[in-house]
Amino acid sequence: MDIIIVETYDELSAKAAEIVTSAVKQADRVVLGLPTGSTPEGMYARLVEMYREKMVDFRHVTTFNLDEYYGLSTDHPQSYHYYMRYNFFDHVNVPGEQINLPRCGEGEAAKACREYEQKIAGAGGIDLQVLGVGVNGHIGFNEPGEYLRGETHLVDLSADTIEANSRFFTRLEEVPRQALTMGVASIMRARKILLLAAGKSKAEAIKKTVSGLITTKTPASLLQLHRDCILVADKEAAALCSKA
Ligand code: GLP
Repeated sequence: MDIIIVETYDELSAKAAEIVTSAVKQADRVVLGLPTGSTPEGMYARLVEMYREKMVDFRHVTTFNLDEYYGLSTDHPQSYHYYMRYNFFDHVNVPGEQINLPRCGEGEAAKACREYEQKIAGAGGIDLQVLGVGVNGHIGFNEPGEYLRGETHLVDLSADTIEANSRFFTRLEEVPRQALTMGVASIMRARKILLLAAGKSKAEAIKKTVSGLITTKTPASLLQLHRDCILVADKEAAALCSKA
């Protein structure tokens, strides 16, 4: 894993946007795997700026989001559908029919997850997967545990994640208990991975992510097995890494 440590969140966002735009410029058709969360907000803002300055064009880009809450309407301000429109899609020229997020009605999860994987494969696989990391080391919504699931699936969120994500909801009871997420195999199949981490709350997770040990208890540690994975972390997130 290549590790880039930057001083500030702005630098992290600029570096991430630079890596994304260079992938976007590399081919006539490009498939991006995209994350949500507070970490990539600055990256999206910078990408929107670069688009406005005509430094990048997204017409030939197809996107697949990593995850989405289960049972939350796509218009809910905390849904990842809403987040992506608000932070990115409403401001750039990715054609609507090339935008994909996991989504399903009640009782349709298995079918929707299968179809999501087929759609990713049909698009030629993901060229660049951008990821954030949870405080407990999760990627997407692949939670720490005895086992991890490979493919896109419906997951019960851990108490840690419900608690961490409650900051976006008015009450803890409103936080969805389940989500659809790409699995670790879906993520690892991406040709290139860009992992972003900012702030001291991520320091422990990042330490375990780069430690050399691989464990399902820290899903992000699996990324050490990927051939082309870059971690961009700010100083606080990298504070406990020996390489820092
Ligand atoms: C959520 C998302 C993850 C994201 C993580 C960290 O749980 N499912 O994909 O990486 O939160 O979010 P943040 O960047 O807000 O810390």
